[in-house]
Amino acid sequence: MKAIVVTDRAAGTVGMTLVERPEPQPAINDVVVEVHASGFVPTELTWPSTWADRLGRDRTPSIPGHELAGVVTALGYGTRGLSVGQRVFGLTDWSRDGTLAEYVAVESRNLAPLPGDVDFTVGASLPISGLTAWQGLFEYGRLQSGQRILVHGAAGAVGSMVTQLAREAGAYVIGTGRAADRQAVLDFGAKEFLDLERDTLEDAGLVDLVFDVIGGDIGKRSAGLVRAGGTLVSIVGPPEARPADGLAIDFVVEADRAELREIVQRVRDGRLRTNIGTVAPLEDAVATRQCRGRRMQRKRVRRTAHPRV
Ligand SMILES: NC(=O)c1ccc[n+]([C@@H]2O[C@H](COP(=O)([O-])OP(=O)(O)OC[C@H]3O[C@@H](n4cnc5c(N)ncnc54)[C@H](OP(=O)(O)O)[C@@H]3O)[C@@H](O)[C@H]2O)c1
Repeated sequence: MKAIVVTDRAAGTVGMTLVERPEPQPAINDVVVEVHASGFVPTELTWPSTWADRLGRDRTPSIPGHELAGVVTALGYGTRGLSVGQRVFGLTDWSRDGTLAEYVAVESRNLAPLPGDVDFTVGASLPISGLTAWQGLFEYGRLQSGQRILVHGAAGAVGSMVTQLAREAGAYVIGTGRAADRQAVLDFGAKEFLDLERDTLEDAGLVDLVFDVIGGDIGKRSAGLVRAGGTLVSIVGPPEARPADGLAIDFVVEADRAELREIVQRVRDGRLRTNIGTVAPLEDAVATRQCRGRRMQRKRVRRTAHPRV
């Protein structure tokens, strides 16, 4: 099969190469999925799990990409809940070969059925950003209707999901970003927009929940905006400052079939819109990625891979 691999940690995305690899075999409880679309974020080239397995052993050349949509082609021993020919989408293990390939082996519990009316490209764009938003808002942030939430990077992949889900849950959303993001953030459902380069962050006032996708000084200052009993949720590492009388939580997104079902249902009935950038075929992904500064997605007629870069 065709796959994109990385071998040189120092090379970044320039080190991504299109090669021929053997097709993966399903282990116990795995399925093999023919990948029709997949997502990639460049920051994963800095994660230890891209380079080493769970015992810390070098696993290069490794295949990046951890979200996908496709069709099940084989079942491993003991696999239940999915069948050959079924459309699926989901999140793959950080420490195994990923989704920038024609086929991937993945534990079936990491996948959910992809309804027939949801495009593979849309399906593959949902797992990381959708699950991260869902878990940060409802599991760690315990968001309630009527609460005020400050969403950093609200025009981005995760932030746009957070903004829409929080708004739907009845929260008052203040979104942040750069000046050019204002209209997009308001369109995703924020009531207010703060330009982090020109406005004063503290003008947001006190909030019940901060959802931080940026960190650094923005994260630190945001801790001071959390009301007593509120929460600062970070997805960019442990917060450098904690709310005076609240919680600070950082987490890494996990696969969850029930949550994937909730997310895709919202896409189907128009409550949730995904944020897809450029789409390109697997064969062009390396060149496209190396020419672009930031975000790319990729597609071809039969198989789609759409790394967010
Ligand atoms: N812990 C987890 O499980 C988890 C899951 C998903 C993602 N992440 C991490 O979360 C981060 C965000 O991911 P993403 O996919 O949402 O990225 P993204 O699509 O690039 O969104 C980030 C948004 O924040 C904006 N932004 C960043 N720095 C800013 C600044 N200083 N001032 C104003 N706006 C700023 C970006 O604007 P520009 O594009 O203009 O810079 C962009 O709109 C990444 O570091 C990613 O690795 C963690």
